This record gives sequence, structure tokens and C-alpha cells, in this order.
Amino acid sequence: MSSKLRIGVVGLGMGAWHAQGYQEDGRAEVVALCDLDKSRLEETACKCGVSEVFTDAEEMFRKVSLDAVSIATPNKFHAPLTIAALRRGLHVLCEKPMAMTVREAERMVAAAQQAKRNLMINFSYRFSDMSYALKQQVEAGVVGEIYFGRTVWHRRRGIPGFGGWFTRKELAGGGPLIDLGVHRLDLALWLMGYPEPVAVSGDAHNVIAKELARKQRKAFTVEDLACGIVKFANGATLMLEASWAVNINEPEHMVTLLCGTKGGLVQKNVGGGYEFTAELYTEEGGNLYTKKLDQALSPAPSAYTEFISSILEKRPPMATGDQGVKVMKILEGIYKSAETGREVRYGAR
Ligand SMILES: NC(=O)c1ccc[n+]([C@@H]2O[C@H](COP(=O)([O-])OP(=O)(O)OC[C@H]3O[C@@H](n4cnc5c(N)ncnc54)[C@H](O)[C@@H]3O)[C@@H](O)[C@H]2O)c1
Repeated sequence: MSSKLRIGVVGLGMGAWHAQGYQEDGRAEVVALCDLDKSRLEETACKCGVSEVFTDAEEMFRKVSLDAVSIATPNKFHAPLTIAALRRGLHVLCEKPMAMTVREAERMVAAAQQAKRNLMINFSYRFSDMSYALKQQVEAGVVGEIYFGRTVWHRRRGIPGFGGWFTRKELAGGGPLIDLGVHRLDLALWLMGYPEPVAVSGDAHNVIAKELARKQRKAFTVEDLACGIVKFANGATLMLEASWAVNINEPEHMVTLLCGTKGGLVQKNVGGGYEFTAELYTEEGGNLYTKKLDQALSPAPSAYTEFISSILEKRPPMATGDQGVKVMKILEGIYKSAETGREVRYGAR
């Protein structure tokens, strides 16, 4: 029997990338796949050379000897499938958003603690050379204490699976805030050292998608744009914006700007697509400087490599369930504030 970690993957859209990531790492092998869609299941199994295939995840957990699983289904199933896998003693890499509510997210963390297994969330925007370089600079003290930030992902027109699960609240938990905002929020929080949120205020709109849904007769029960302001126990403030359809210049507009006592940093996309740049701004000796990452000499690990390493090294993963809970607290807070028109408070500042 091979000494490689034995991994199963549930949900084969994004999950097919998980399977590829594990196979590329080489310290794990994908031995079982699960999807409700049989044709997708067969196609992915054939591509990945996997013979154990299932349409029921819990049956897969029961019947196949596994060390770990990826959960990459629609958001509604993240919590129940993660908890079921942890209870079977498996380590779990769960897609973002971790869950649809804080309550679900907390139950997932409790299940991981009880099972003494790793629960990692696929906050994939951390796992890049740019993000790693910025984190290294923050940890080296280059920007000082971060007291303000703005983190954004807008799309001109980019509603995923219009009318399908992404645009139904009961299956997704929300719209672009929980889908795209979650990535930019995690990136900002990670660079800020995951401070404790104490108050959240926000708003949500459904303007452009509502009209498209009416014309195309498609289900759309989430927001098409949301924004929020988060205050933290350490005195910092973060603004968050996310949309799937808004009248702007570029197809995709992503930016995370963090301002510190000694310097500032920006991680943003260039050219309206998925190419990124990372810059730092400082004042030294009465002069203002801009520093830009040209090339990382050692590449950042992928999320899949980090998940495997954390299991083999018997340590917590870099993107933990606890961090996922904090992210959910903020997202849920913004949705609640949008509904009630009031600030949501978590504790004294
Ligand atoms: N980290 C990232 O960058 C990233 C990118 C894309 C999607 N995602 C996340 O991945 C998840 C899946 O998104 P997607 O784009 O692949 O969606 P998708 O609709 O393309 O794929 C989901 C798959 O899950 C299957 N499925 C649904 N319910 C299931 C169940 N109970 N058991 C087994 N299979 C089931 C569906 O048949 C489908 O094939 C979402 O949570 C999404 O937010 C993350």
C-alpha cells in the first residue's frame, strides 16, 4: 500500500481543481470522487484516473479508506458534509465560504476539535507569491500597525451560474459578498493579523441583477452588491465591497489597500483580469518610496500543498476554521445590518 495520503473529493466543479492540486503535489493521491451529477463524475474520474466513484458523500466516507477530503459543493452542503467527514476521522479542506451562517461555522470548528482533525478553509487568494510577499513585509514591520483598509471585488457583469444555486439564498447563503467578498475579506484580515471584529455595519442592493432576472425569468434571491464597514477591537477599520454586476470600467476590479503607521500596501488586479500586482508605500528620511514585487524567488505553496503539509507535519493549517468563523461573523453581520438598518455589535471596543 502506498504511503501517500488518501484523499477524496466531493463536488467536482472547483473540486476538480482540488484533485489536480493534490496530484501535482505528489504526497497525496486522489482515490475517490463524489458528485450528484453522474456525467461530471465519470468525466472527472476518467481524467484523474480514479476508479472509486460515488453520488452519496457519506457512503464514500464510509466505504473508502481515506485520510482526508475536500468539500467543494454548493455552500449549503459545506457544514453537514464537513461535520460528517470529521466525525469519520477525516481531515477536511472545505471551500469558501466556510458555511452559510456563523452557527454552522462554529459547529464545524467544534467537530474538528472533537475529532482532533485539521479543518482548513480554501481562502485561495492568500496562496500566491504576491500575498506571501506582502505578509512577509507586514511581519517584518514595514507597514507598522495597520489602522485602515479597503478590500474590494467588483465585477462589471459576472454573475456565476445565473438562476442556479449561486443566485439562490437558500443554497448559497448570499450573493457576491459571500462569494467574492469572502476572498478579499480573508486576504485583508490575514494581512492585518486577524483582529477581533467588534462592530459591523453594511448595506446590500439588488439593482442590475434584479432587472436581468426579471427579463430572463431566472431565480435571483440574493444581493448583486453589498458593502460594509468593520471596526476591530484594536481600533482598526476595514471597508469591504463586493458585486457581481455594477457599472464600472473593468470586467473585474479587485483591490486590497491597507494603511499602516509606517507604510501602506496594495494588492490589486491589473488589466481587469486575474493578473495581480503588489506594492508597498513608505516614507523614509523625508522621502516617499514605492516598492514593488518583481519576482518571488521561492514560490508560495498552493492551498492543496499547505493542507497536505499541515496533516503530515501534524500542525494546524494556515487558513483555520477559527479564521473562517471570524469571516462568517463579519459577512453575517453585514447581511443583518443591511436587513435591520442598524449596526451589529459583538462586544465593547
Ligand atoms: N476558492 C475558490 O477560488 C473557488 C472558486 C470557485 C468556487 N469555489 C467554491 O467551490 C464551491 C463549488 O463551487 P463550483 O463553482 O464548483 O460550483 P459548481 O456548481 O460548478 O459545482 C458544484 C458541484 O457539486 C455537486 N454537488 C451538489 N451537491 C452535492 C452533494 N450534496 N454531494 C456531492 N456533490 C454535490 C454538483 O453536482 C456540482 O457538480 C462553492 O462553495 C464555491 O464558493 C471556490
